[in-house]
Amino acid sequence: MITTPLSQAKILLGVTGSIAVYKAADLASKLAQSGAKVNAILTKAATEFISPLTFQSVTGQPAYTDSDLWGAQAHVLHVGLAHEADLLLVAPATAHTMAKLALGSADDLLSLTALALGTGEGSSPLMIAPAMDAGMFSHAATQENLRILVERGAVIIGPEEGHLASGLVAKGRMTEPTEIIGHVRCQLARNGPLRDQQVVVTAGATQEPLDPVRFLSNRASGRQGFALAQAALDAGARVTLISGPTHLSPPIGAKFIRVRTAEEMRSATLDACQEANALLMAAAVADFRPSQQSDQKIKKIAGVPTMELTANPDILSEVKDQHAETAHPEVVIGFAAESQDLLANAQNKLKSKGLDMIAANNISAVDAGFAVDTNRVTLLHADGQQEELPLMSKAEVSAEIIQRLIRMLGEEHGS
Ligand code: CTP
Repeated sequence: MITTPLSQAKILLGVTGSIAVYKAADLASKLAQSGAKVNAILTKAATEFISPLTFQSVTGQPAYTDSDLWGAQAHVLHVGLAHEADLLLVAPATAHTMAKLALGSADDLLSLTALALGTGEGSSPLMIAPAMDAGMFSHAATQENLRILVERGAVIIGPEEGHLASGLVAKGRMTEPTEIIGHVRCQLARNGPLRDQQVVVTAGATQEPLDPVRFLSNRASGRQGFALAQAALDAGARVTLISGPTHLSPPIGAKFIRVRTAEEMRSATLDACQEANALLMAAAVADFRPSQQSDQKIKKIAGVPTMELTANPDILSEVKDQHAETAHPEVVIGFAAESQDLLANAQNKLKSKGLDMIAANNISAVDAGFAVDTNRVTLLHADGQQEELPLMSKAEVSAEIIQRLIRMLGEEHGS
């Protein structure tokens, strides 16, 4: 399994008395499956809904309740738990628990542990996923408590609009576990080697319309670009992901810009690159577009049409021109999709587009390239160095590329 910020992370999961606890068990299970060590702390009200044994079973780690506060093993349990934790996530968080946390009240194991976590620089983050009825959430008291918690550095996730236990459809539902995990992953990555670095990633294919229903495009799925965006986030970067149409969900934490045509991708990329430190240009930009775009659907009764094509702008070449004025991005990495003469063609693109590195892949291989989860790339560096990577998942390829990016940015910044 690929190493992510969740691997080996020590997470305290505070579980409070809301019906959303049934999702907290799934959350604990998914966190544990991602490699995290998860210790649940249940409030008394939570134990009315669910047993600590459930959390112990899905995490393989002790789950605690208030009864663990007393007894021979319990000496300053809360302090030990807080000091060991990389992060305290309270999910679901009831209005009552949020009020206690805002007040600094410490009358059960969870609130004691939250207090022992500390606040400010150097203390582990407190993350809160509220779950309650809409009226309780919008109540001025709850909102005031939230404000206080945010002011002290707590990260609030959700809640979402949706179906509530009361029958209302409104804001109060706990955010879904996979999304919460995305936010946790970002928090854990915040001090990574690319912190303070702005990374732009492009992904997917562009679509060049011919008429309102037809377009010219290519087979790129966007998976490599989305995996690169996640890997950059995992290294602590601020990420802008610019993608052509795709069904993939953008990684949590990335600023996502959806585009359609090469022209739209060009303007979004040039704009995002103004102050960026790095560009990873993984998109398969359509090289040509229909010269004429019909406002109405082209009818077959009019006969078989002929299509004249116009060249699209080469985005990387324009990024290079912009770099001459702005000195951004400091590092540009391109991708070469080739069906023949892989290394020679990639080498030409590396030079002509002024890249620091290019990842070349043979798109005719069945286990690499479009619409599969694996890729086999050769990395060509501007200084002539060549690295042939073995067959890997696109997530692993991304982690390798981000490792190179960290090194290149380090050299740029003289560290
Ligand atoms: N690229 C670009 N703008 C384009 C076309 C491609 O910025 N209009 C970028 C791609 O995102 C990729 C690199 O250039 O990082 C190489 O793309 P590729 O499609 O392999 O090559 P092309 O330059 O389009 O040349 P050809 O299609 O002739 O191989």
